Amino acid sequence: MQIVRSVTRMQKLALKLKKQGKTIALVPTMGALHKGHLELVARAFRMADITVVSIFVNPTQFAPHEDFSRYPRNLALDCKLLRPLGVDIVFHPQPQDIYPTGFDTYVVPEKIATILDGESRPSHFKGVDTVVLKLFNIVQPDFAVFGRKDLQQSVVIKQMVKDLNVPVKIVVAPTVRDADGLALSSRNAYLSVDARRRALVISRSLFAARQLVLSGERNTAKIRNFVRRQLVKDAKADVDYVSVADAETLAELRRISGKIAISLACRIDGVRLIDNVVLKVG
Ligand code: PAJ
Repeated sequence: MQIVRSVTRMQKLALKLKKQGKTIALVPTMGALHKGHLELVARAFRMADITVVSIFVNPTQFAPHEDFSRYPRNLALDCKLLRPLGVDIVFHPQPQDIYPTGFDTYVVPEKIATILDGESRPSHFKGVDTVVLKLFNIVQPDFAVFGRKDLQQSVVIKQMVKDLNVPVKIVVAPTVRDADGLALSSRNAYLSVDARRRALVISRSLFAARQLVLSGERNTAKIRNFVRRQLVKDAKADVDYVSVADAETLAELRRISGKIAISLACRIDGVRLIDNVVLKVG
């Protein structure tokens, strides 16, 4: 497993591999890797000749008041987890190599970035789209694997790829959870024991909402209220949004039909957590 830190070297290496006829699968991450990330890597490994994992805490997707500086970083541990999975290249650039002085061009998603997470994190998806397109141009992947845990992120990236004719196939892999249901996230490390216990309400309320839909409930307002009540009452959470939307466009639904996503964002003791379930109805 090679660790490549230079943008130029990574791009040269990728272009050379492509010339040799090799396919490349990329898993973009910000490190602090957990089993959720490792599932994406295992998936990438099965898809292409060369597996690349990027580890880069992207400053442009964090607002000034957010956790950029305290975001967990541990390259040595991450590499230890990746080596046994057959990863060929870990791409670990420095911020000044990705955003050198004078950097002035961004990819700006429009409507899709104004709803849900985009509403409380206004420039977040601009930072995500920009860094992901840069990573695509540097690593030249045929495939890129993302997690459904960040559902809106995957929708935003698919839209960018479609709108800008980017020749990369986007693969979205299911959410990996702890045995008690909590969706794995690097940010779970910020939770106290008590906050983590209360955070279990997130997945529990989503699973219960899914059950309501499967037993025939079609009124989306009822489902939103049902989830929100549990978050407030049982988790003492500060709810950002509860959404019942079309799973492909994330447009809010009045009545349930087709493939839907029930998703939410909330803060528990100040830690912002997101989760969702996706299901097909009738
Ligand atoms: P990060 O939060 O490190 O996540 C990297 C990838 O892992 C994302 O595609 C995310 O959806 C996926 N992931 C996280 N938790 C998961 C879980 N429990 N199950 C399955 N997949 C999970 O998302 C980012 O980084 C960044 O925004 C990035 C795309 C790298 C751009 O900077």
